[in-house]
Amino acid sequence: MQVYLTADDPSAVSAGALVVPFFSEAPLEGIAAQIDSAIGGVIADALAIGDIRGKLGEHVLVYAKDRPFRRVLAISLGEQKSFEPHFLARYAGSAVRYLGRRNVEKIAIALPSAAAGQEAVCASFVAEGAITGSFDTTLYQERPERRLATRELAILSHGLDAPQLERGIARGTALGEAVNLARRLAVTPANDMTPTHLADEASKVARDGGLEITVLDEEQARGEGMGSFLSVAQGSNQPPKFIVLRYNGDPSSKELLALVGKGITFDTGGISIKPAERMEEMKYDMSGGAGVIAAMSALAHLKPKLNVVGIVPATENMPGGRATKPGDIVKAMNGKTIEVINTDAEGRLILADALCYANKLGATKIVDAATLTGACVIALGHAASAVITNNDAFGAEFLSSAKPTGERYWQMPYYEDYTSAMKSDIADLKNTGGRPAGTLTAAAFLREFVDNTPWIHLDIAGTAYLDSDFPWQAKGPTGTPVRAFVALAESLADARATHPNGARASEVHV
Ligand code: BES
Ligand code: MN
Ligand code: ZN
Repeated sequence: MQVYLTADDPSAVSAGALVVPFFSEAPLEGIAAQIDSAIGGVIADALAIGDIRGKLGEHVLVYAKDRPFRRVLAISLGEQKSFEPHFLARYAGSAVRYLGRRNVEKIAIALPSAAAGQEAVCASFVAEGAITGSFDTTLYQERPERRLATRELAILSHGLDAPQLERGIARGTALGEAVNLARRLAVTPANDMTPTHLADEASKVARDGGLEITVLDEEQARGEGMGSFLSVAQGSNQPPKFIVLRYNGDPSSKELLALVGKGITFDTGGISIKPAERMEEMKYDMSGGAGVIAAMSALAHLKPKLNVVGIVPATENMPGGRATKPGDIVKAMNGKTIEVINTDAEGRLILADALCYANKLGATKIVDAATLTGACVIALGHAASAVITNNDAFGAEFLSSAKPTGERYWQMPYYEDYTSAMKSDIADLKNTGGRPAGTLTAAAFLREFVDNTPWIHLDIAGTAYLDSDFPWQAKGPTGTPVRAFVALAESLADARATHPNGARASEVHV
């Protein structure tokens, strides 16, 4: 998908379709009004009849015979007063999915007048949404039934600040491609997406983006003392890989942001085996890791001024003759011993060593993302990811930078009670804390491995993949948390540039 700017007159633009926005309960404005009057007011009339109430994403398609664009698709942005720029990603994504299915190869798209003064942010969302909207999950179909036809999306610059629009398009394109990379890694089944394959994909990202990469094998991980990570890997015939990507955007600074992602390429549960129903979804258990690799790829292209290390412990969680058994005791990199009560609580075991390793590399801030607990899906459903932190100021900074991206995060508390629940009778810790507050006891466990480094844990179990389609997005992997990772990195880089003492901006940065 190619997204670019065009200075063409909207009423003369040549395309398979012209897409215009409108707000509910408001007269057509800007380009939408201009085009509608050129084609005889049929859109205003369709709205006046009341067929469409104008809920976000609702649309009207009209044919425009004898125009250089053959169709006009008017898509609602919802109520004007509740407009947020990230709705434009849904707007563009819906256009691509709707028209792409109708064999439209080139779309021309208009921005609402509200884009004036925030051109870069708005164009970024349009580019991101067009690219993520074009993502196809039918990777393995020999002759897919309905592949989306759209190849080009031309954004009409029409009276807006063109250089800002160009900046936004470049950023949104890099972000959209990264989101799709995370989704492709996640949707690829575990027989193909092994730890070795995931490491190869990370190497490709490093090569293309000029990042440093180190991949520790089993022996090297043992040398680092990663007994907790390796205890998960030992039940599998697939060799584990501990992936470390490095982006040095500010060599003069000692600040280092670590992004850590759970990379379980398949979670059977191990000896504490999972029931068969929906176990196939556990190919998605590396979504946090995919998000880290993809975010690193976006940063390599966007080049914010900060240093970031991406860490992905990758392994299968399998039952086998050498697999960890309930009751076994393992030792993490920081020397803490862990009684493995349930081998299905494996995510925290691999993250324990990854968090220690982040500290060893000198991380000054750590964010991890993991499809960690079923309890998180019970608590928040698929509507938001859970946020747990040991540092409320850092948590607030994350939340305010993530908010405008459209990904949703909801902070949950930390209490010492949760740490108490993870105490073992025989070892320092145990890896499960019972049914109550499963997401928070898991977070309390991870907290034991970050020292005093400001840290945020994201439980993305309910948001990394969805089993329903949206007009703007195919079902399956969503790319969460790539947008938030990138926004946080940009916000940290920006805060350091403008307020070296740590104040921050709270917008999507372009
Ligand atoms: N990968 C799962 C969590 C998960 C479940 C993600 C459903 C997405 C959807 C994780 O490894 C797991 O199995 N967690 C256990 C922990 C329990 C044994 C303490 C869980 O949530 O049941
Ligand atoms: Mn598990
Ligand atoms: Zn898991």
